[in-house]
Amino acid sequence: MIELSENTSLRELQALSFWEKEEILQESSSAGPSNMNLVLRIKTSNRSVILKQSKPYVRKFPQIPAPIQRIQVEFEFLQLLENHPLAAKFVPKILAYDASNHILLTEDLGKGKDFSGIYSGEKSLNETDISTLMEFINVLHGIQAKDFPDNMDMRILNHEHIFHFPFQKENGFDLDSIQPGLQKLSLEFKHNELLKEKIESLGKQYLSKGETLLHGDFYPGSWLEVSTGLKVIDPEFGFMGDREFDLGVFLAHLDLGQQKEDLKNQVISSYSHSFNLPLLKAYRGVEILRRLIGIAQVPVNMTLSQKEALLNFAKSLIIDAHE
Ligand SMILES: Nc1ncnc2c1ncn2[C@@H]1O[C@H](COP(=O)(O)OP(=O)(O)OP(=O)(O)O)[C@@H](O)[C@H]1O
Ligand SMILES: [Mg+2]
Repeated sequence: MIELSENTSLRELQALSFWEKEEILQESSSAGPSNMNLVLRIKTSNRSVILKQSKPYVRKFPQIPAPIQRIQVEFEFLQLLENHPLAAKFVPKILAYDASNHILLTEDLGKGKDFSGIYSGEKSLNETDISTLMEFINVLHGIQAKDFPDNMDMRILNHEHIFHFPFQKENGFDLDSIQPGLQKLSLEFKHNELLKEKIESLGKQYLSKGETLLHGDFYPGSWLEVSTGLKVIDPEFGFMGDREFDLGVFLAHLDLGQQKEDLKNQVISSYSHSFNLPLLKAYRGVEILRRLIGIAQVPVNMTLSQKEALLNFAKSLIIDAHE
């Protein structure tokens, strides 16, 4: 297998099979913030492209194994969407795919910014952004994709970090290193047996097969603002599951980014498919909890007491889901 890195020379990259006749590689650089995969922006004499290679581990933390087939999932997802008349405009076009080397080459959408800035308050979402994101979700959730890969290895990885690890009493992750006092605050959620029971059964639900093609990681890091509009990238967690999962994650990140209630109401009111409200609330709640007391933190700008209020809100979304 060809192992690429950020240090791979232009000469070695030029030797890959993707290039057109007389296409000369001119520059290779990191495409943007990423943890999981190698993602390069390669400028050539003809164009600029994005090269993504999955590894059998998390690129930034090579000691942590990760399912290498995730790039195949991303490829199949993008292929379905680029051939869909209403979905194509949201995603980068596939230029080449080399399954044996786990490399996907896509169109460079241009240097853009994702929406992670909403956590610190340096970026905010407006009504137009929400309607664009909802247009995407409405189209995506209507796509027929019966034979889509089950992506079970990635779901098991995600399951651990959403439904299990954050609620383990002794997980070895000192939350005080994130914010002093957070460890003590987290104990209530790690010791609440009713809450943990509900989260465990929700986790089983996440691992079961559903009817809807999901993005699987529908949060601000997957929304890219470029000159041609708002795009959706990084579908490596995609699978056939509960539509309430994508929606719940979406809403949870509006909570974590302290966005206006109007925007959250807009998400719910503009969703065009039927859904189960208690299930949506529960997925929203667990995503909030895991982002505040789990390992996959997002850079929120909140005092300890704001976190406490949001954690309690999340708990109520799960426990009182049926009220
Ligand atoms: N097609 C594209 N056009 C322009 N920029 C892109 C494109 N694909 C990725 N990027 C940039 O590269 C960054 C990393 O890409 P991506 O999120 O797909 O990688 P990843 O390794 O899966 O990241 P993560 O660790 O967050 O899962 C994006 O945040 C974006 O800035
Ligand atoms: Mg990713």
